[in-house]
Amino acid sequence: MNTKINLAGIEMKNPVTVASGTFGYGREISQFFDLSKLGAVITKGTSLKPKNGNKPPRVCETASGMLNAIGLQNPGVEYFAQNDLPFLRKYDTKIIVNACGSSVDEYVELCKILNTLDIDGVELNLSCPNVKEGCMAFGNTYDGVKKVTTEVRKVLDKPLIVKLTPNVTNIAEIAKAVEDAGADGVSLINTLLAMKIDIYKKAPVLANITGGLSGPAIKPVAVRMVYQVAHAVKIPILGMGGIINGEDAIEFMLAGATAISIGAGNFIDPYTSIKTVEGIENYMKQQKIEDINEIIGAVK
Ligand SMILES: Cc1cc2nc3c(=O)[nH]c(=O)nc-3n(C[C@H](O)[C@H](O)[C@H](O)COP(=O)(O)O)c2cc1C
Repeated sequence: MNTKINLAGIEMKNPVTVASGTFGYGREISQFFDLSKLGAVITKGTSLKPKNGNKPPRVCETASGMLNAIGLQNPGVEYFAQNDLPFLRKYDTKIIVNACGSSVDEYVELCKILNTLDIDGVELNLSCPNVKEGCMAFGNTYDGVKKVTTEVRKVLDKPLIVKLTPNVTNIAEIAKAVEDAGADGVSLINTLLAMKIDIYKKAPVLANITGGLSGPAIKPVAVRMVYQVAHAVKIPILGMGGIINGEDAIEFMLAGATAISIGAGNFIDPYTSIKTVEGIENYMKQQKIEDINEIIGAVK
């Protein structure tokens, strides 16, 4: 049975990775299982300089999901290179850095540095709904996405995957901008812009007022978007949004995803990602599938 896939030039032993921001830099979850079991680890959104993120409360639960407005808290790329990268490199898994910035120049400067590091690829975050500048401000128009991706492509030789926001009218058009600008892959979906109100305090629950919805609640939206993007572009797709088991992962792959990420599922159960690897293998055995690549985009 073959579970190896090639995501945008990154050879992964299986199609399962973890969604940025739900796995830190791998240290905490490495106490539960061997990270080498994953096809890849995707880091927390990392910026040129350290960021404190938003004021708390920054997360809350919703029906079948959660809201977050972390605001891209991270230690910055230098700290990552010196501390987290050597830690992650001890494992036999691919390392993809989720990169975020607040201007085109910042994305370019960051990616110049990432280009010199021993990492396997970059996931360019043009989709965070919880910061005032950058990210989604570029990510929700064809021209914005094309501009940042084009400039980053000039300085980055490593595999480049661009992560899209679902908070747009036409996701296929935005994915086309990524492809037209020369990226190697596209990743979707980030969280859906959402809000929760405390009816007794008569106030928003999150200090940021709005946050991003993730978890099983968003899965059907994500599957629909992966399917639409798969029909619009030729570059491979990293699919995510509410995946918590092997069956969910298979659904995304049938819709057109080459690989998938586990996000909020890591908070429900730290073993969700490796259970998903096993779930995919069980499905392959049960359905007598020799090669996982056979099912990618099989639903026309
Ligand atoms: C607490 C939290 C932090 C996140 N931080 C990031 C981030 O730094 N960069 C990014 O691209 N996406 C971030 N995301 C979005 C996830 O990577 C993912 O796209 C989204 O949650 C949908 O997948 P899920 O439903 O499996 O969680 C974050 C999500 C959560 C819940």
